[in-house]
Amino acid sequence: MIWIILISFVAVLLCVLSCCTRRSRLASEPPLDKGTIPWLGHALEFGKDAATFLTRMKNKHGDIFTVQVAGRFVTVLLDPHSYDAVIWESSSKLDFSKYARILMDRMFNVKLPDYDQSAEKTMVKLYSQLTTTLVIWSLTRLTPAHPTPPHPEKGNCNSPGSQSTYLGLLIFFFSFVLRNSYLNISPVMAIARLNHSSPPPASLRNKEVKHYSRKLDNFMAELYKGTHILAEKKEAASVKEHLWRLLSPEQVDSKTNRSSWLNSYRLHLQELGVDNNMQARVMLLQLWATQGNVGPAAFWLLLFLLKHPEAMAAVQGEAERVFKQNGREVSPLYQISQELLDNTPVFNSVLNETLRLTAASFLTREVLQDMQLKLADGREYSLRIDDRLCIFPYLSPQRDPEVYEEPEKFKYDRFLNPNGTEKKDFYKRGKKLKYYNMPWGAGYNICVGRFYAINSLKQFVFILLNSFHMELCDPEERTPAFDVSRYGFGMLHPERDVKIKYKLKI
Ligand SMILES: *[C@@H]1O[C@H](CO)[C@@H](O)[C@H](O)[C@H]1NC(C)=O
Ligand SMILES: *[C@@H]1O[C@H](CO)[C@@H](O)[C@H](O)[C@H]1NC(C)=O
Ligand SMILES: *[C@@H]1O[C@H](CO)[C@@H](O)[C@H](O)[C@H]1NC(C)=O
Ligand SMILES: *[C@@H]1O[C@H](CO)[C@@H](O)[C@H](O)[C@H]1NC(C)=O
Repeated sequence: MIWIILISFVAVLLCVLSCCTRRSRLASEPPLDKGTIPWLGHALEFGKDAATFLTRMKNKHGDIFTVQVAGRFVTVLLDPHSYDAVIWESSSKLDFSKYARILMDRMFNVKLPDYDQSAEKTMVKLYSQLTTTLVIWSLTRLTPAHPTPPHPEKGNCNSPGSQSTYLGLLIFFFSFVLRNSYLNISPVMAIARLNHSSPPPASLRNKEVKHYSRKLDNFMAELYKGTHILAEKKEAASVKEHLWRLLSPEQVDSKTNRSSWLNSYRLHLQELGVDNNMQARVMLLQLWATQGNVGPAAFWLLLFLLKHPEAMAAVQGEAERVFKQNGREVSPLYQISQELLDNTPVFNSVLNETLRLTAASFLTREVLQDMQLKLADGREYSLRIDDRLCIFPYLSPQRDPEVYEEPEKFKYDRFLNPNGTEKKDFYKRGKKLKYYNMPWGAGYNICVGRFYAINSLKQFVFILLNSFHMELCDPEERTPAFDVSRYGFGMLHPERDVKIKYKLKI
C-alpha cells in the first residue's frame, strides 16, 4: 500500500515539475537539451564532471546549446572566435556582478554595501597586494636565511639520501602558504581549533593540515555549485564561523605584528561602511581565494617541471641567468628586479602551458533581457531573459584539438617561437584566434591580479629552484588525475598528492 502511495506521489511530483519547466526550443534559439529528469535536467552529470558532460553535449549539438540544470536554463558557448560577443556585451544585457554577488553570499555570506564596480576594482587591487604579500612572506621562510621548509614527513623513498626530506608536493605548497599567511593568524591553527574539545596542537602534522585545508576548500566547491547537502552546509557553516572569529577585527587588532596591507585593507572596508562581522567574512573570502588557486598552480607547474627534465633544464637555465644578472648567486627574492622578471620567455611559456592544462573556470553571465547573440561566423541566436550564459575556455580553446596539437600533453615550449620569443599565433578553422588561452578570464572581468599572481609564482619557482634540489620520489610516477568535481571552479586540484624529495643546496 505504502508503495502505491509513494509511487503515485512521485509520479504526480514529476508531472508537476515537468509542467513547470515545459519549454520548447524556438527556431531562433540554440539547440535545447532538457535531459530526462524533469526540473533537475542535467544537474547531476554537470556537477559530477562538467568537462565530460559538456564535451558530450558539444559532440551532440555543436558549439552552442542550452541545457537544463536544476530548473535553470544555461546556454553554453564553446566557439572562441565568438567570445567577444559575450565578454564585451554591456552589463545591462549580460550581467556578471549579479552572479558574483550571489556566489559571494552563498559561499562566504558576504554582502557588501553599495557593491559597485569601482569598489570592486579597489578590492581586487588590495587583493592582489595581498597575494603578493602572502607569497613573498611565505617565501622568505624558504630562503637560506630561514631554511624552514614545511614539516618533513619521514618518507619511504627507495634511495634515502641522508639530508633529503620527503613530502607531498601539494601539501608542500599548501602548508607554506597556509602556515605563513596572515602573519600570526595562522589559518591552519584556526582550522585545527575547530575541534573545540582539544587545545590547538603546537605544530600540526601534514595530514591534518591537508585534511582541514582540503575540507574547507571542498565545502567551498560544493557551496559554489549549490550541490551541498544540508549536513555539509551545517558543517561548512561551523567551519566558517570559527574562522570568522579568528579573523575578526578584535583578533586582528590584538596581533602585534600586523602587515601594512592588513591595516589598509581594514581601513578600506571601514570606509565602505562594512561592519566588524562582515570584515571578518571578507577576510576569509580573500584568504580562501588566494590559497585556493596559488597552491595548485604552483603544484602543477612544479610537477610538470619535475616530470619533464628538458623543461626543467630550460627553466633552470633561465633562472640562473636571471640570478647572475641580478648580481648574486642566491639573493632574497624581492631583490630580483622587475626588469629581469619581465624577460623570462621560457618560464612564461611553461606557465602558460601549465595554466592551459589546469585552469578551468566558467565565465558566467546572467541574461537580463531577451537578446540576440551574434557569433563570429554570422549565426545568430536568441537568448531568453533569466537564462544564464556560460563560456568554458577550458574546453575551447585551451583543450581544443583544432587549436593545439595533442592538447592533453604538456609541451613546455608550446608558447615559444623558434627564435625564442613568445608565440601568439594560434588558429582554429584557419582563422587566427584572439583568445587562445584564457586562464585569467577576459573582457571586463579579467583577473586584475594576474600580473601580481604571475610575478609571485615566478619568484616562487625561481627561488625554489635556486635554493633546493628537488625530485620526485618515484620518477616513473604518473601525473595524478584531476579532481573532476572541480571543473568550473578555478584551478583544478589533483586527485591525490605526489611525493617529492628535496634538499637545501649548499
Ligand atoms: C576532535 O578531537 C577528538 C579527540 O581529540 C577526535 O577524536 C576527533 O576526531 C576530532 N574531530 C575532528 C573533526 O577533528
Ligand atoms: C614581531 O616582530 C618583531 C620585530 O619586527 C620580532 O622580533 C618578533 O619576533 C615578531 N613577533 C612574532 C610573534 O612574530
Ligand atoms: C603567457 O605568460 C605571460 C607571462 O607569464 C603573460 O604575460 C602572457 O599574457 C601569457 N599569454 C597567454 C596567452 O596567457
Ligand atoms: C621571431 O619569430 C616570429 C615568428 O616565428 C616573428 O614573428 C618575430 O618577428 C621574430 N622575432 C625576432 C626578434 O626575430
